[in-house]
Amino acid sequence: MRFKNGLRITTAIVFALVAISLLTFIQPAFAQEPNFPNNTCADCHRRLLFASEPQRQFIEIRIKHLEAGIPCSIECHEDQLNKTTSSTYALWSISAHFLYGVTCDKCHGGNASAVTKEEAHVGLSNESIARANTPEMCGKCHASQLAEFKTSKHFQILESTGENLPAPACITCHQAHSVHVLTASEIEDFCSNCHNNITGINPAVPKRAEAALSSVNELQVEISKAQSDITSANASGRDVTRAQEELDTAKVILGNTPSVWHRFNLTYFETEVQLGIDDAKNAENITAQSQAVTPTKAPGFEGILLIIGFTIAYFMSRRNS
Ligand code: HEC
Ligand code: HEC
Ligand code: HEC
Ligand code: HEC
Ligand code: HEC
Repeated sequence: MRFKNGLRITTAIVFALVAISLLTFIQPAFAQEPNFPNNTCADCHRRLLFASEPQRQFIEIRIKHLEAGIPCSIECHEDQLNKTTSSTYALWSISAHFLYGVTCDKCHGGNASAVTKEEAHVGLSNESIARANTPEMCGKCHASQLAEFKTSKHFQILESTGENLPAPACITCHQAHSVHVLTASEIEDFCSNCHNNITGINPAVPKRAEAALSSVNELQVEISKAQSDITSANASGRDVTRAQEELDTAKVILGNTPSVWHRFNLTYFETEVQLGIDDAKNAENITAQSQAVTPTKAPGFEGILLIIGFTIAYFMSRRNS
């Protein structure tokens, strides 16, 4: 009996510690009130984070496990928790969509000014969030990505009902709530989920896609080199008009890459990025050449000084004589 009480107390302490560490771990991200005063979806769902039924179940299960001495990793229950209502808020609240006020109702529908759950949920749509419908739904705001994506093989397969190949929709790559943007280093692993030797779906794609996306970094580097060359040439009064034109073209290409990418035509993408790199390098070369031509202005000024000097000397000497 005494032993059991002791165990209870230890359990309670352990649990308290776990709870505290869990809360301090997740609290900072959500401590901030969302700045959408008229949006009841975000407001109510934020509160579910700590009060939801799954959250309570999670805590109860942990107490039972600890009492029974069953070691339990935090992950196993967290994984289940991750699929619940509260976790969708958690993921969204640290996303770019949160920052830009893309609230729940923008994708789910519903009435974002109603206070009760029942009223707010009127008009929630399962249609709009269905995987295959996400291109059209997301494309309401990301029109350029959608336009390019529509020309892709991925989109064609998503659209054709008879096709039994798996094709990625927007949320396959970006996730619905975290809207993560895959970086070049994540690309190979991610694309090879489908593009591999076992499925036989274009197994060469992942490596090539990684290289293609990395070349965008090279374009960025060349653009900033050209930019700083032009800035300093301009500061020393040289003519940089032609170089600036080349640089502007490179910048337009860079600006278009995040949408052009969604064509999922790697040959086209590689060619575009290479054109941009060439333009930026041209800008650098033109700037360097303008350097060689410039030494006209400063000596010109010195020359004028010299002439004035000689003239004064001439008149002085005439007056003296
Ligand atoms: C007053 C609280 C409250 C408000 C306001 C609210 N919700 Fe919910 N919502 C909940 C709860 C609680 C759940 C958990 C499931 C349940 O109990 O139905 C939930 C579940 C959901 C789900 C999961 C699917 C479902 O139907 O169960 C979605 C999607 C959702 N809410 C979206 C929204 C959107 C969008 C808004 C705003 C237009 C909104 N909610 C407003 C409390 C709220
Ligand atoms: C950018 C669009 C977008 C925004 C913003 C968004 N969601 Fe979602 N949500 C989706 C999509 C798409 C799915 C379907 C995900 C899937 O099928 O894997 C989804 C799924 C869900 C689910 C599971 C639905 C179910 O029926 O099982 C819940 C719950 C949910 N969202 C709640 C929210 C809440 C709460 C917010 C705001 C805090 C929110 N969502 C904001 C697009 C969005
Ligand atoms: C109501 C408009 C709206 C809808 C609908 C919408 N977005 Fe966005 N999205 C934005 C805005 C605004 C931004 C921030 C500015 C920007 O990057 O364009 C953004 C940013 C993004 C980003 C960049 C994130 C980053 O970290 O840079 C991605 C990726 C994204 N959205 C994907 C999606 C996906 C996938 C969907 C559909 C499930 C979707 N969006 C639906 C408006 C929207
Ligand atoms: C097969 C994976 C994949 C699919 C499908 C996909 N994307 Fe992307 N998306 C990416 C990658 C990778 C990037 C980063 C591209 C880059 O850096 O140039 C990106 C970039 C973006 C960005 C720009 C982020 C920024 O930095 O400006 C937005 C917005 C976006 N995607 C929205 C969408 C929308 C909307 C859809 C559906 C119509 C979609 N994506 C489909 C992989 C995908
Ligand atoms: C859900 C599965 C899936 C994922 C994930 C996926 N793809 Fe695909 N992809 C396909 C299918 C299916 C095809 C069509 C293959 C065919 O018709 O031969 C395809 C075709 C392609 C093609 C070739 C199009 C053509 O015209 O030959 C490219 C390029 C491509 N994908 C790029 C990517 C990139 C880059 C990623 C990762 C960001 C990616 N895919 C992720 C399923 C996927």
